[in-house]
Amino acid sequence: MKLLVTGGAGFIGSNFIRYWLTNHPDDQIINYDLLTYAGNLENLADIAGNPNYSFVHADICDLTSVNRAMSTVDTVVHFAAESHVDRSITDPSSFVRTNVLGTQILLEAALKNDVKRFHHVSTDEVFGALSLETSEKFKESTNYNPRSPYSASKAGSDHLVRAYGVTYGLPITITNCSNNFGPYMFPEKFIPLAITNVLEGKKIPVYGDGLYVRDWLYVDDHCRAIDIVLQKGKVGETYLVGGMTELYPNIEIARKILKLLDKDESFIEFVKDRPGHDRKYDIDWTKIKTELGWEPKFSFDEWLEKTVLWYKRNEQWWKNIKSGEYKQYYTKQYGK
Ligand code: NAD
Ligand code: DAU
Repeated sequence: MKLLVTGGAGFIGSNFIRYWLTNHPDDQIINYDLLTYAGNLENLADIAGNPNYSFVHADICDLTSVNRAMSTVDTVVHFAAESHVDRSITDPSSFVRTNVLGTQILLEAALKNDVKRFHHVSTDEVFGALSLETSEKFKESTNYNPRSPYSASKAGSDHLVRAYGVTYGLPITITNCSNNFGPYMFPEKFIPLAITNVLEGKKIPVYGDGLYVRDWLYVDDHCRAIDIVLQKGKVGETYLVGGMTELYPNIEIARKILKLLDKDESFIEFVKDRPGHDRKYDIDWTKIKTELGWEPKFSFDEWLEKTVLWYKRNEQWWKNIKSGEYKQYYTKQYGK
């Protein structure tokens, strides 16, 4: 296979490229990435010299570059996006541009270049929020109800992908996945922010009452799910991908991280809540399990510990990030 991976310099994209070249060493990958604040070629430093890997520095909104890159591949795996909910609250327009317009431009080029599969990586946030009391979970049939500019823009991209499948016969598949965690995760998201703050002697900012719940999934489980969908998934179908069965509120995640770093709860600081904060996400991944045989393998506690260790051992990686534009973002978001 020859794959065009968009957003391959980001968190999940870089883990996916490493996963793919390890498990499919004869395949070729073009990583197409604009290198926004979230894109970082250091995530792929160990891959850069692989003869089956190449990098294109360009924007998914640039049709000419997209067409050129797509002309030599058979498969597209589309990760590129503005991905951080908090940033979407302060700057929604860049989310609409990249996530909606960028996706439509990729779809147009995929049609023109007759790609054999366009796989779109999306999120469970398109379904909105569950209440803490319910045992209901998101399913493929759940109605869309996005509540942040980020999730609204991802919902728009999902609709466009399906529309290109139905209207033009583009061979598409979609995965809607829950919160990933693992190495190379940008330290503006909760788990890496918490770990690196504590390593710097700072507190963990916990939004609101800390009782918000996410369905955490180790990033390699996500990469394997996309692999299985590419190999065995049915064209036109959507598959939900989720993590562990036990659900922990954010405050509990903060406590687990503090325990792993040998610190007490004085490192927790409750801060102003996120506007429109979704209370709970929980995924029913029965479809991908029964139809394609995928289920998550990595237990949350074991891989949280390994993730904490990774951040301890890769201090320079996150210190480089935290010393740049990140500082201004942090002051704007948290006020100090
Ligand atoms: P990320 O923010 O870490 O990486 C995004 C990448 O896209 C970066 O490398 C960035 O440079 C690139 N990019 C942004 N705009 C671009 C543009 N206009 N042209 C080309 N490249 C551009 O994101 P992530 O956390 O790795 O998420 C990847 C995908 O998975 C996203 O589509 C996101 O919506 C989805 N997703 C993420 C999670 C999660 O927990 N992180 C969960 C479910 C779904
Ligand atoms: O559900 C999948 C989504 O998960 C992806 O589509 C997004 O790209 C990804 O960013 C993530 O979105 P969340 O908003 O759930 O992730 P975040 O890490 O920003 O926040 C996780 C939870 O932690 C959420 O309830 C908000 C809370 N939080 C977050 C930050 C940054 C805090 O309490 N304090 C914080 O400082």
